Amino acid sequence: MTYKPQAKYLKDYQPPSHQVEHIDLTFDLSPQKTVVTAKYQLEANNQSRSVELDGVDLKLTSLKVNGLPHTKYEVIDSKLIIDNIPSKFELEVETEIAPELNTSLEGLYLSDGAYCTQCEAEGFRKITYFFDRPDVLATYTVTVIGDNSFPYLLSNGNKVEEGKLENGKHYVKWQDPFKKPSYLFALVAGEFDLLEDTFKTCSGRDVKLQIFVDKGNLSKAPHAMESLKKSMKWDEERFNLEYDLDIYMIVAVDFFNMGAMENKGLNVFNSACVLANQETATDRDYHVIESIVGHEYFHNWTGNRVTCRDWFQLSLKEGLTVFRDQEFSSDLGSRALNRIDAVNAMRTHQFAEDAGPMAHPIRPEKVIEMNNFYTVTVYNKGAEVIRMMHTLLGELGFQNGMKLYFERHDGQAVTCDDFVNSMADATGTDLTQFKLWYSQFGTPKLKVRTQYNKTQGEYQIEIEQVHAAQDSVQVPLHIPVAIELLDNQGVRINLEHPEVRQGRVIELKAATQTFTFEGVSEEPTLVLLEDFSAPCLLEYDYTVAQLCHIAMFASSDYARWEALQQLYTQQIREYVKGQEVDFVLSKELSAVLLSLFANKPKDLAILAEYITIPNFDTLSAGYEQVPVEALCNAIDELENQIAHVLKDVLTQFYRGTQESGSLSAGDVAIRALKNRSLYYLALTDADVSTSLSMQASSTNMTNKLGALRSAVNANHSLQNELMEHFDKQWNHDLLVMDKWFALQAANKVDSCIDNILSLYEHPCFDKSNPNRVRALVGTFARSNPKQFHREDGAGYKLLADLICELNQLNPQNASRIITPLLSFKRFDEKRQGLMKAQLDRLSSIENLSDDLFEKIDKALN
Ligand code: TRP
Ligand code: ZN
Repeated sequence: MTYKPQAKYLKDYQPPSHQVEHIDLTFDLSPQKTVVTAKYQLEANNQSRSVELDGVDLKLTSLKVNGLPHTKYEVIDSKLIIDNIPSKFELEVETEIAPELNTSLEGLYLSDGAYCTQCEAEGFRKITYFFDRPDVLATYTVTVIGDNSFPYLLSNGNKVEEGKLENGKHYVKWQDPFKKPSYLFALVAGEFDLLEDTFKTCSGRDVKLQIFVDKGNLSKAPHAMESLKKSMKWDEERFNLEYDLDIYMIVAVDFFNMGAMENKGLNVFNSACVLANQETATDRDYHVIESIVGHEYFHNWTGNRVTCRDWFQLSLKEGLTVFRDQEFSSDLGSRALNRIDAVNAMRTHQFAEDAGPMAHPIRPEKVIEMNNFYTVTVYNKGAEVIRMMHTLLGELGFQNGMKLYFERHDGQAVTCDDFVNSMADATGTDLTQFKLWYSQFGTPKLKVRTQYNKTQGEYQIEIEQVHAAQDSVQVPLHIPVAIELLDNQGVRINLEHPEVRQGRVIELKAATQTFTFEGVSEEPTLVLLEDFSAPCLLEYDYTVAQLCHIAMFASSDYARWEALQQLYTQQIREYVKGQEVDFVLSKELSAVLLSLFANKPKDLAILAEYITIPNFDTLSAGYEQVPVEALCNAIDELENQIAHVLKDVLTQFYRGTQESGSLSAGDVAIRALKNRSLYYLALTDADVSTSLSMQASSTNMTNKLGALRSAVNANHSLQNELMEHFDKQWNHDLLVMDKWFALQAANKVDSCIDNILSLYEHPCFDKSNPNRVRALVGTFARSNPKQFHREDGAGYKLLADLICELNQLNPQNASRIITPLLSFKRFDEKRQGLMKAQLDRLSSIENLSDDLFEKIDKALN
């Protein structure tokens, strides 16, 4: 790599040189030549007679200072430097851009003929020259001029004017009264179907709600609308936060790099995160849509009203907003299921990121391309850090902290420290040590030892924090560890101890700490890190009997699930260790599983989670060098064993339980457990052909897809027929076809790679669409370890070939799918060589994007 892009450092932060109160934008839209006029007053914060503005790929056609043409300027790389200016002046710049040629899906681009924008993080500079940084806050007026064939011309805030123009054009003028940074700017123009509703806020104001979808998709918008109304109500009730504009718009587009974007008053969504009906969307999709609609809505306060000072502070808005959307889902649905979901995301993706070359603290200190830092660390670990504060301060303390945060910082661009200070000051808590979570990367490991002294009735827990060796060791951390002690009958022992908060949380602050409990009359069973109270790994010598005891008796569904996960992990490890020995599921575990079915929990969806084993990535965390084949075999073998042990009870449940196809929690849970059952039964000698065919012809997508997944996973003789039929039935609906692409990408059979290559030619596939790429190639690299890590290197080559093509076309998307290649150091020598060869090859391609450069450079050097 010859070219070295510049990194930016948190420590180098400088406040902006100028302030801008207001910006006036005019867009004259045209696919090849959109003319953007920006007019704004700049006021210097210092003596400077010059100013530097951000701008990328812009054609500058006019520049005026105080209304007069100005020639003292220079365009260097991505900066416009204007000299000879007074300390306060009005700038007017006119630039031209070509949305039609913009395949990066950043800035102003076309999605299936509709204009739309994506400005976060630094995309506004692809639209006009401005201070494209989050700490320059201005009010915006935006005039959008477009052809009459684009009936909707949208931007942030309230519509203040509209009218007809000559040449078959019209215009609409928008005004956003709230100051915002440029990354929250949005513009959309196109022809849509529109779903409308209203929401009455707690203070009695009517807010107009609008969801814009592609023509013909109106029947798939109601779920998002319901989700939006639920979000607005929930934020009033739980956080006392009311919406602030008179209108809230959501636009669904097919070409989008991420899930959705919280632009003020005008959210832009990936259509996959909006559109749903029972025939096309699974129960999981319904859930995800609700949580993403919530997430973007919650940003209105945590992100928009109070925003980030600089991009290193991204977790200020993302960690907090993920925490809020998780709480929203938990309050509306099952808390345990949502917790299991969040923990799985951490263990599957975040622990791996923290152990790989892209490891960074939730507040990164060095960034080349900001788009690379919209990560599971910033988002999900960020949310866990917020959750730990919630655990330490309690709901009341946390809400007092939120209240103070808004009192102090509404309308400002602030730092993660400002947030923690509000929490500390509102509650009188010292969070100085806790702040280390923001600067320390890596997953802490808690080594636990216990001792019981019968004569004294004393139970001792010793916990040691272990942190991966690193440059700037800032340990120990402040860690809340929730525990539960169970007696031999499985009854919870009351914890009386001066250092226990809320009857269950002990606080670690030292590298090693001992907690002694008195008056314990028999040796208890210890439940550790209950509810995943801290994002840590745990090392404690549990016996099978202890874990079974927890799985049977712990007072929370989460703790039972966790105990089962550990039992499965132990079994897998044994199998990996002694592959030649015949593998049998332990009697104790079999008995626990059977008894779980005999005394089913109220929520059957929890039971489905109880019998789901940890995935490849989660299990990999337990190995310094990942034993690919052995681990894949062990996973298959454990599933076979579970299937055989549970065959009768699963058959009985599958045959004996009906659901009505509704979206009620009860029906959703039945479908979850029935699909899990079918998945396992397909692995046994039971004849599942009829069940597979029946479910596959269902008009409910959850059932339909459940059948296909079971057939594909078990390599059932019906799979081809079912897959072909699905293609014929759904090739008119690309979002549905993504499920079909993903199923084939996850297929463990050796023909998988050839199949993927031929699917590139499928009429529905399109490399320029991130959803298609993620469904087919993303799923392959992330969720098909057996084929991705093939010993002939064909899996690595497939991924690298596609990344080469995407490097120029869509750098963000290319950079997102490269992740599985980066952690080559975790594999055996042969695989390391093959993976590294692909990274070397990628590192030398011409015009390597900054996005890819940053990741490849970190991995290789
Ligand atoms: N802020 C968005 C969210 O979390 C994330 C996002 C959407 C984004 N589109 C993006 C981030 C493009 C970077 C680039 O809701
Ligand atoms: Zn977000």
